[in-house]
Amino acid sequence: MTLVVAHRGASAYRPENTMPAYELAVEQGADAIELDVHLTADGQLAVIHDETLDRTTDRSGEVRLQTMEQIRDADAGSRFAAGDGSQPYAGQGLRVPTLPEVLDWLPEGVGLVVEVKAAEAVEATLVALRDSRVRQAQAVTVISFDESAIERVRELDRDLPTGLLLVPFDRVERGLVWAAERGHGGVFPWDGDLGLDPTPILSQAAAFGVRIGCYVVNESQRMQLLAATGLWGFVTDVPDVARAALGPRQEPLA
Ligand code: G3P
Ligand code: CA
Repeated sequence: MTLVVAHRGASAYRPENTMPAYELAVEQGADAIELDVHLTADGQLAVIHDETLDRTTDRSGEVRLQTMEQIRDADAGSRFAAGDGSQPYAGQGLRVPTLPEVLDWLPEGVGLVVEVKAAEAVEATLVALRDSRVRQAQAVTVISFDESAIERVRELDRDLPTGLLLVPFDRVERGLVWAAERGHGGVFPWDGDLGLDPTPILSQAAAFGVRIGCYVVNESQRMQLLAATGLWGFVTDVPDVARAALGPRQEPLA
């Protein structure tokens, strides 16, 4: 079964990395949620994609230089524009979540992919995950573009699945070799790097004992092709399109 992983939640429809975006992803049948974490000035984990507040909130400045309380003042719904150009979530009280907040909420049977955006956030991420339900259900993976970040995860917690994100146009085979040699279970390339037919790369991955997920897939036919190859999962902004393409959710994650 190829997993439908909601990219920053159902981010095509609601402000990315907010609780309403995660809630909608679950309603739409996502198997797992992908989110991004940064460390704040007071050692907390802010769930936000960028290093700064500027693009997604009404505030500015670097996340790492602000306390979580300061970050929680920002309106995380203020920048999202609907298809008609309106901003229906501005002023609705949406906040930048913390990782523990998402973990407390995450429904049973829904998986989680935590992307550590800065290596400094690794220790706090592991503390947050340690006693979480999703960890106990073995349904969480920690990924990063930063090799040192996932190396640190493995050093501190060998039982937690990890994956290396590859930037677009990086060689997938390089990632597979690197991950296999270091015991990381997954490699997550840009979909474009899997090629029109991902079968050869997936065979290589199977030989290395490494699973492949890819980002970001929003087109129905491509979703169906990827699912037919047995890919571990893909990240999408539109979980509803994925469910329509692949059929109803089969079973909760173990
Ligand atoms: O899951 C992979 C994807 O989230 C990586 O890219 O920039 O959306 O964090 P980005
Ligand atoms: Ca991400």
